[in-house]
Amino acid sequence: MSHAKRILCIGAGYVGGPTMAVMAMKCPEYRFDVVDINPERIARWNSDHLPIYEPGLDEVVRGTRGRNLFFSSDIAAGIRAADIIFVSVNTPTKTFGEGAGMASDLQYWERTAHEIVEHAEGDKIIVEKSTLPVRTAEAMERILKANTRGRRFEVVSNPEFLSEGTAVRDLLEGDRVLIGAHDTDSGRAAAETIADIYRHWMPAERILLTSVWSSELSKLVANAFLAQRISSINAVSALCEQTDADVAEIARAVGSDSRIGSKFLKASVGFGGSCFKKDILNLVYIARSYHLHEVADYWEMVVRLNEFQMQRFVRRMVREMFNTVAGKKIALFGFAFKADTGDTRESPAITVARLLLEERARLVVSDPQAIENARMDLADAGDDVTYTPDPYTAAENADAIAVLTEWRQYRELDFAKIFQAMRKPAFIFDGRNILDHQALRNIGFQVFPLGRRCLTSF
Ligand code: NAD
Ligand code: UGA
Repeated sequence: MSHAKRILCIGAGYVGGPTMAVMAMKCPEYRFDVVDINPERIARWNSDHLPIYEPGLDEVVRGTRGRNLFFSSDIAAGIRAADIIFVSVNTPTKTFGEGAGMASDLQYWERTAHEIVEHAEGDKIIVEKSTLPVRTAEAMERILKANTRGRRFEVVSNPEFLSEGTAVRDLLEGDRVLIGAHDTDSGRAAAETIADIYRHWMPAERILLTSVWSSELSKLVANAFLAQRISSINAVSALCEQTDADVAEIARAVGSDSRIGSKFLKASVGFGGSCFKKDILNLVYIARSYHLHEVADYWEMVVRLNEFQMQRFVRRMVREMFNTVAGKKIALFGFAFKADTGDTRESPAITVARLLLEERARLVVSDPQAIENARMDLADAGDDVTYTPDPYTAAENADAIAVLTEWRQYRELDFAKIFQAMRKPAFIFDGRNILDHQALRNIGFQVFPLGRRCLTSF
């Protein structure tokens, strides 16, 4: 079957896979190809066991794969055939050289630009889907224009705002789609072409058209603002524990102000995920490179507060368990960076686990989706860590439970049974404030919520 347009996505990760699957579902007259340098990942996308866990994704992929959605490792063929190329490769924090630990590592991104130059045969629209430093399109254009051979490349920014765990819903019902293009005839035409894809299901008023630079910077700033809210409420949680105020009550009171809003005010052991930290550090790096040190310090504090929150959580565990956890068995309930994903990138659980291991605790990691990743994250810890998806098994003979991911099923556990199987006194540290703390105290637990008065018999 011939398709009205051929759309390629380079990078079959958490963004590329779900985004193209949803587009394929909504635009049956277009063909979508997703390519990746990692052949194992492509094989998983072509199997019944997708490489990422996302609620609702299996159905969308089942309905489109082989019809107008194809996964392949043939990047060159994909580039040759495409009219539009989305680039959704990873842009992690640089680990070497200038800007190490702060700036974006653009090597994967740059490689795609060279691949496009090498294999493209006609005109193409290149879409920046990855999160990138502001003015990256300029660098992309330089590479593309260095060797045009009569072809025209138009670079458009279309950052992705989906959250893991709700990716399909976010893609279908997102608050907005952002498309940044140059204010030229070809730029405006390219923006319209991309907007046409989204118009298949997004109301016109949610499609925002801006300059390329505003679009690139908006993505970093949106993540910085979201993370800032979590660090703000987490800073307050520390104060609550000292003053007997309750962080949930404060979040409710503050969030009821419509100017502030109630979302993203859940105190936690800290925010994780592959993007918040890297994107804020990138923003900090960009600000510093323009000598805007106060601006850089301001945003850097959001990340520092997050680190403080994780350390504070562990310090409290150690202090409350009679100043030592050496040799004690601690069950971690949840290892993913949030519920409904198996992703553990930058999960606060990694930091908490490592700090507890430094204190010589023995850990049992339990998580419904993230055990495979957790094993890799803690591969160097050896026999001090064991793994089980089952929280009941994890808690057997444990001295303490630390809730690190807000999985819904943890609220529904039989805690009386868990209490029976634990050593006494049995401690529970709720790093997500998802459990019924009074009910736990009634069972006999020593209960330590976050940003709330503890409930203990001591
Ligand atoms: P990911 O690591 O899951 O996927 C990236 C994929 O790109 C990998 O499979 C990798 O093998 C592939 N790749 C790297 N270089 C390649 C190349 N030259 N050719 C072909 N494939 C290549 O990353 P992700 O989570 O999907 O994130 C991708 C981008 O989207 C990042 O910039 C990220 O900041 C941004 N983003 C992520 C999310 C999220 O929730 N994960 C949300 C919004 C934006
Ligand atoms: C985040 C943004 O929400 C997305 O809009 C963005 O597209 C994405 O980053 C990205 O650029 O990658 P994500 O990291 O998938 O999405 O997940 P979030 O739901 O934002 O959660 C991030 C972390 O904050 C998690 O560890 C979560 O548990 C924590 N969190 C979130 C809190 O501690 N409290 C809250 O109130 C909300």
